[in-house]
Amino acid sequence: MSDAADTPIPDDQRAAARAAWEKTAAGWDAHREWIEQSMGPVSHAMIDAVSPQPGHVVLEAAAGLGETGLLAAELVHPGGRVIISDGAEAMVEAAKRRAEERGAGNVEVTPMELEWLDMDAASVDAVLVRFGYMLVPDPETALRDARRVIRPGGRLSFAVWDDVARNPWIGAGMDVLAGLGLAEWPTPAGTPGPFALSDRESLLELVAGAGFVLPEVQTVELTFRSPDVPTARERFVGLSGRARVALEDAPADRRAAAEQALDAMFAAHPDPNGPAGSVALPGVALVVAADA
Ligand SMILES: C[S@@+](CC[C@H](N)C(=O)[O-])C[C@H]1O[C@@H](n2cnc3c(N)ncnc32)[C@H](O)[C@@H]1O
Repeated sequence: MSDAADTPIPDDQRAAARAAWEKTAAGWDAHREWIEQSMGPVSHAMIDAVSPQPGHVVLEAAAGLGETGLLAAELVHPGGRVIISDGAEAMVEAAKRRAEERGAGNVEVTPMELEWLDMDAASVDAVLVRFGYMLVPDPETALRDARRVIRPGGRLSFAVWDDVARNPWIGAGMDVLAGLGLAEWPTPAGTPGPFALSDRESLLELVAGAGFVLPEVQTVELTFRSPDVPTARERFVGLSGRARVALEDAPADRRAAAEQALDAMFAAHPDPNGPAGSVALPGVALVVAADA
């Protein structure tokens, strides 16, 4: 039974999450093309929802490598600009390299906390956050701060994951690791994690409670394809800090057994539209849009 002494303190949660994301950035960078392919439909839905126009200023927060912000940058040109931000320095560095590779001249990449945005009030036309709000201890505060920085009439769009049952691309691997006693999974209710905001009704209440109007939610179905089982495992572990830590912390024999069990799970998800040996796991995102 837990008591007050066991209750995680938000600042401790924040520090631990920050440290974990600093270490996970390399995996997101290494698999950036796959992320873009697999999660691109979410970015497109978010962009459609805020409809960036030439001259607009757009903030992408908790941006990782800034894929969605880079899409917005093309649309706000000429005259507009995009601020791509993330709380982890290593993500910011990776996003800077990516923006440079793309030759995005109207993009600034900077460290920034999602819960307290370092921006003036009413200074942007839109805020975009793909897979960020469910990871912070206080999403309502974070949403209120987004409301503060968006000009009246501007737009918010963000994505979170739908229920874990609809996201085997995360859940199936974590179930394997938890079944072997290597990971605490699912994350306890009410704590930050990939599925912390997957209840639609509560999600819409949260957004309205933070001062946004006319919030709407749509689902976007995704498929996470890999050419073979080892690649699928490498990508899963590369993106999931929890999975990586579970494997890193395990003794060598248990790690080898866990990798075999993960491989068996991925092999049980053949891609019906791909070549022999290829793998596909589904995922579903919730894309929320609202007026400021
Ligand atoms: C699941 S990744 C998503 C990255 C990117 N938005 C995407 O969809 O590819 C979550 C990102 O949020 C960042 N993040 C987590 N907590 C944050 C916080 N409190 N403030 C700012 N960034 C945060 C992490 O560093 C990481 O880059």
